Amino acid sequence: MLRVCVCVSGGGTNLQAIMDAIDAGKITNAQIVRVISNNKGAFALERANSKGIEAVAVSPKDYADRAHFNEAFLQCVDEATPDLIVLAGFLVVLPPMMIQKYEGRIINIHPALIPSFCGKGYYGLRVHEAVLERGVKITGATVHFVDEGTDTGPIILQKAVEVLPDDTPKVLQQRVMEQAEWVILPQAINMIANRQIGIE
Ligand code: GAR
Repeated sequence: MLRVCVCVSGGGTNLQAIMDAIDAGKITNAQIVRVISNNKGAFALERANSKGIEAVAVSPKDYADRAHFNEAFLQCVDEATPDLIVLAGFLVVLPPMMIQKYEGRIINIHPALIPSFCGKGYYGLRVHEAVLERGVKITGATVHFVDEGTDTGPIILQKAVEVLPDDTPKVLQQRVMEQAEWVILPQAINMIANRQIGIE
C-alpha cells in the first residue's frame, strides 16, 4: 500500500477526486494517510475529516518566520511517513530541504499545459485569466514530479481542454478541473501506486 500524504490550500476538489477514485477502485494499492493544509479554514480539511482521514493545519501565521514554518511543515509530513506526497492545489513554495528529502516522491497538479502558463505567479484562477488574455484555444492540466524549480519537474500526464468563446476565468477553471485535473491526478497516483511510472 502506497502511503499518500495530500497537501492542500483551498476547496479540495482534487482531494475529493482522489478520495472518490480510491472508493471506486480506480486507484488501487494506495491510501491517504494524512491531509495537510497551510490554511486552517480550507474546506479540504473538512472533506478529509468527513472521510475519517487525519487532517492537519500548519499555518505560517503561527510561526515567527518562514524557517520555523518550514520546519514544522516538514515535521508534519515526516510524521505521516509517506511514500508519495501529492500537491493538490497547494499554493505554498515547498522548503528546498523537503524537495531534496522526498526527491521523486512529490507530484503536483497544475491547471495548464506546461510549459505554457506556468512558473512563478501562475496559480489558481490567475492561470485561467492569463489563458483567456492570450487568447489560446486549447488549455488543459498537467501532473508532474516536483523538483527545485516552479513547475519544471518531469511531466507524468497531460490532458487538453478546449477554451470556448464566452469563457470567464471561473467557467474555464471549472471545465479544466472536470475534464482534466480530476481525471489525470487520480490516474497518475494509480500509475505510481502500481509501479507503472517512477523516478529512479
Ligand atoms: C486547482 O485548479 C489546481 O490545479 C491549482 O489550484 C486549484 C485547487 O483547487 N493549483 C495550482 O494552481 C498550483 N500551481 P482544489 O482545492 O479545488 O483542488
